[in-house]
Amino acid sequence: MKPIGILDSGLGGVSVVLALRNAYPDMAMVYLADQIHAPYGNKSKQEICEIMEGNIRWFQQQGITEVLLACNTASSNALEYLHEKFPSMKIAGIIDVTVNQLNDADCVGVLATTATIASHAYKNKIEKRLSSFVIEQAAPDLVALIEGLANEQQLSSVLDVYCQPLEECDTIILGCTHYPLIKDQIAKKLSGKIIDSIEPIIQSFSTRNYPKGDVVLYTTKDPHHLQQQIKTVFKQRVEVLKGVVK
Ligand code: DGL
Repeated sequence: MKPIGILDSGLGGVSVVLALRNAYPDMAMVYLADQIHAPYGNKSKQEICEIMEGNIRWFQQQGITEVLLACNTASSNALEYLHEKFPSMKIAGIIDVTVNQLNDADCVGVLATTATIASHAYKNKIEKRLSSFVIEQAAPDLVALIEGLANEQQLSSVLDVYCQPLEECDTIILGCTHYPLIKDQIAKKLSGKIIDSIEPIIQSFSTRNYPKGDVVLYTTKDPHHLQQQIKTVFKQRVEVLKGVVK
C-alpha cells in the first residue's frame, strides 16, 4: 500500500499530519506543503483548481493513489474538479467531516479564508443538515500572519475585527486548517463552542486499513525554513523534509 498523500499550503497541513502521526504512529504519509502558492485563500477558484491539479499530478508521479486535501480552501473550491480530472485516484476533502460534527446549533459562525467563504460550501452543507442560522466571516490576513509566525499582539488586533461579527454564535467552525494553531487566541475573543477539522480527520481513519511506514514532508519552497517554522510552532523536529522543484 502506498503512503497517503496529504496536501495544504503550509503549517495548517503540518498540524493535520502531526495529529495523525500522534494517533497512528505507524501510518505512512507523504505531506506536500505548497508554500510557494500560499495563501491559497486569496486566489480565484480557477487559480486554486490549476494549482491543485499540478499538486495532484505530483502525487501521481510519486505513485500515490490516495490524497487527503488537508485544506478547506482546496476542498471547497477544487474537489469536484479534481474528481473529474483524476477519476482513478481517491481524493478526499474535509468540509463534510467537519460539518458532520454538528448536532444542533442556533447560530453557527464560519471563520475561513476568502475563497472558502466565497464558495459558501460550509453554509450550504450546514443548512442542508440543520436549521441553524449561519454567519460567514472571511479572514483574508490570517494565513499569512500564521505562516509568518506573527506574535500574539499582531494577531489580536486582526482577530478583534474578524471575531466581532461572530460574537452571538453558539458554535464557531474554524474553516481553515491553519486556524487551530491559534485556537487559544480565537477562544479569548468568542464565547461559542469552537470546532475544527482535526478530530474528525483522525476519526475518519479509525475504522479502516491504512498504509504503514514513514512520514515524509516536502515543501515547494525552502525546507530549512519549514523546519524552522515547525520547530517554532510545534516545538518538534520532523525527520524527513525535502524540497520539491515545481
Ligand atoms: N489551510 C488552508 C485552509 O484550510 C489554506 C489556507 C491558505 O493557504 O489560504 O483553507
